[in-house]
Amino acid sequence: MKADIKEILFNEVKIEQRVLELGRQISADYQGKDLVLVGILKGGVPFLADLIRAIDLPLEYDLMAVSSYGASTKSSGTVKIIKDLDAGIESRDVIIVEDIVDTGLTLQYLQENLKSRRPNSIKIATMLDKPSQRKMVIHPDYNGFEIPNVFVVGYGLDFAGKYRNLPFIGVLKEEVYS
Ligand code: IMP
Ligand code: MG
Repeated sequence: MKADIKEILFNEVKIEQRVLELGRQISADYQGKDLVLVGILKGGVPFLADLIRAIDLPLEYDLMAVSSYGASTKSSGTVKIIKDLDAGIESRDVIIVEDIVDTGLTLQYLQENLKSRRPNSIKIATMLDKPSQRKMVIHPDYNGFEIPNVFVVGYGLDFAGKYRNLPFIGVLKEEVYS
């Protein structure tokens, strides 16, 4: 697997340190709130798992799945709910937890969809932000790292379902997907 990686952008130590910082920020911001983290399957899972343990507050988490890119490195532009939340979020303080914001189409859709369920507040936490490809006005409230327009894998991010289990985030070699 490692042979398919052109360059490591963020290693395990870097990721761990940044997630701890985000956890501390969220812990400070959500004292006394009814916090629910909504992890987006499947890419958001490693980040969600680490982030919840970096937050020193009572919280719940739930999971949602939306349609993904399939075996392509480009966004299809359509979003569909494949698995919805188990519980309601009315009057609760929601943080959506995603692996990456690219065009913003996924989060734009999710944000609008969850807003219609009348939460008290809704914010976005993402491990990575790729602002150069943005089509929607989405500003993550908690962002691990900003990256240029490269296709990355690892720490939940996949290509054709693979590489999610890499403990680091790296750039995939172009010959792997071209
Ligand atoms: P958006 O809707 O274009 O913002 O895309 C969000 C989704 O696209 C993420 O949840 C990822 O599944 C996928 N994605 C975007 N960029 C990358 C990347 O560089 N590597 C792997 N997946 C990506
Ligand atoms: Mg994905």
